[in-house]
Amino acid sequence: MSAIDARVRRAGAEVQLARLRWWDLPDVLALEAELFGDAAWTPGQFWSELARVPESRWYLLARRGAATVGYAGVFVAGDQADVQTVAVASAAQGAGIGRRLVGALAAHAAGRGAQRLHLEVRADNDAALALYARLGFVEDGRRRDYYGRGHDAVLMTAALPLDAPGEEVAGG
Ligand SMILES: CC(C)(COP(=O)(O)OP(=O)(O)OC[C@H]1O[C@@H](n2cnc3c(N)ncnc32)[C@H](O)[C@@H]1OP(=O)(O)O)[C@@H](O)C(=O)NCCC(=O)NCCS
Repeated sequence: MSAIDARVRRAGAEVQLARLRWWDLPDVLALEAELFGDAAWTPGQFWSELARVPESRWYLLARRGAATVGYAGVFVAGDQADVQTVAVASAAQGAGIGRRLVGALAAHAAGRGAQRLHLEVRADNDAALALYARLGFVEDGRRRDYYGRGHDAVLMTAALPLDAPGEEVAGG
């Protein structure tokens, strides 16, 4: 590991995961716009998701001090679960935060009885594909043009619990 890699990893260790609350939405929406551009969820979509917590949804925030550096959410229905979103601020990427967020969501879903965790990812999103593969997800299908013409979705799934245990989250 290079000195820069080690520094980035240490920065990741200072990050805490917590439940995402409605008052975090302004920060989340700013990150959402930065990371997803035209495909960003609207405030209404986030409100609709949070309205379903805890019955079928669960959302986490990654925070370094007062700064929001990431968030992620999962949909749990019976023995199946879906990753709804995962995002890490550009400046905080590569420090293990995405892995921690998905690991904690997976642990939550497993704790509620889910046996499989599914997701869709753009076929050209190398960082996300690598993150999910690292966590043990495998491709189980594709949806052509799912994100618009020429932009396919890769469907991935993992058995729960994941091999690497997800961390405990306060209140989670
Ligand atoms: C995808 C995303 C969430 C990854 O978050 P992250 O915090 O940077 O990822 P991590 O540091 O936890 O990386 C975990 C693993 O993913 C892989 N990975 C992450 N980013 C990578 C990149 N740019 N290139 C190659 N591999 C990468 C690595 O294998 C890494 O494993 P390692 O720690 O053993 O090296 C982040 O890049 C992001 O928010 N992107 C924009 C939004 C997005 O695409 N969300 C996903 C939609 S499906």
